[in-house]
Amino acid sequence: MKNKIISEIEIIASLTASSPNEIEEIRIKYLGKKGMLNELFSEFKKVGKEDKKEIGILLNNFKKSIEDRLEQLKESMDDSGSSQVAKDDLSKPANTVELGSRHPLSVVRNEIIEIFSRIGYTVEEGPEIEDDWHVFSALNFAEEHPARDMQDTFFIEEREDGNHSLLRTHTSSVQVRIMEHNQPPIRIIAPGRVFRNEAISARAHCIFHQVEGLYIDKDVSFADLKQSLLYFAKEMFGESSKIRLRPSYFPFTEPSAEVDVSCNLCDSKGCNVCKGTGWLEIMGCGMIDPNVLELSNIDPNTYSGFAFGMGIERITMLKYNINDLRLYFENDIRFLKQFSSLI
Ligand code: DAH
Repeated sequence: MKNKIISEIEIIASLTASSPNEIEEIRIKYLGKKGMLNELFSEFKKVGKEDKKEIGILLNNFKKSIEDRLEQLKESMDDSGSSQVAKDDLSKPANTVELGSRHPLSVVRNEIIEIFSRIGYTVEEGPEIEDDWHVFSALNFAEEHPARDMQDTFFIEEREDGNHSLLRTHTSSVQVRIMEHNQPPIRIIAPGRVFRNEAISARAHCIFHQVEGLYIDKDVSFADLKQSLLYFAKEMFGESSKIRLRPSYFPFTEPSAEVDVSCNLCDSKGCNVCKGTGWLEIMGCGMIDPNVLELSNIDPNTYSGFAFGMGIERITMLKYNINDLRLYFENDIRFLKQFSSLI
């Protein structure tokens, strides 16, 4: 019995536990009703007189060592939240942390802002819930213009003054808000979200993003517009980029044009992205119609200006060869991860 107690005391000194449950298991094993200590005490009754003193002392040592060891294990659990063993294991790998990244539309929006801010444009914003006046009337849209149609515009309600609340269909409404409250020189861009009542497909969505540009001063000419847009195309798509302007129509500009940039995916040789033409349409633009200046109390005899508007989704598609608009909004991590190296 003597040897048994001595070897148990040795075992107790090296006991470990990695959770409170394991400590409790040890306690039960040694100090529980049917535990080792009680067992040894019953055996102790049979010990002969000559050994009683020595074994009695050993038994007390046994009891004290298990109590002390349990106390130590509890303490190490309290200050580390885990066992001594886990605390000491410095070779364990750290938990991995997945870093997030910016959405490709935000990356491109920031790049557009960056490019125009280098030539003196500041950033302005306007409300997404707009009214008839700022989205259409002040921009010279005729009363029966099809863009006002229920099929394009999400109308919200008709106000008492007859002006409709609606979701803006383009960021050109911000032009009006800026002209209303500022006199030239004005040089701003307005990035933002726009809404159109369209069926969702690879090429169309009911929510998308635009960047509007507006420059008004004395003697602003069409040549200024062309050079500003050429500068933008080179910065965005590469130094060798060219632009071409095709005549077009917008109610708020005269003359109006659509802008194509040379296709950088095939070096203008013709590919499936530029549909074999070597050119990609990137925005609408024009000289601000004198009527529009006048409606916002800017004197068209003193001032002239240009405006342009581009879709962020489209520019991003062209830059990164993305072929389905819906990918932007699904937030599939496999799609988003491909842009994680961009700022
Ligand atoms: N607002 C037009 C659209 O959404 C784009 C546009 C065209 C904006 C010509 C302009 C512009 O500022 O001058 O289709």
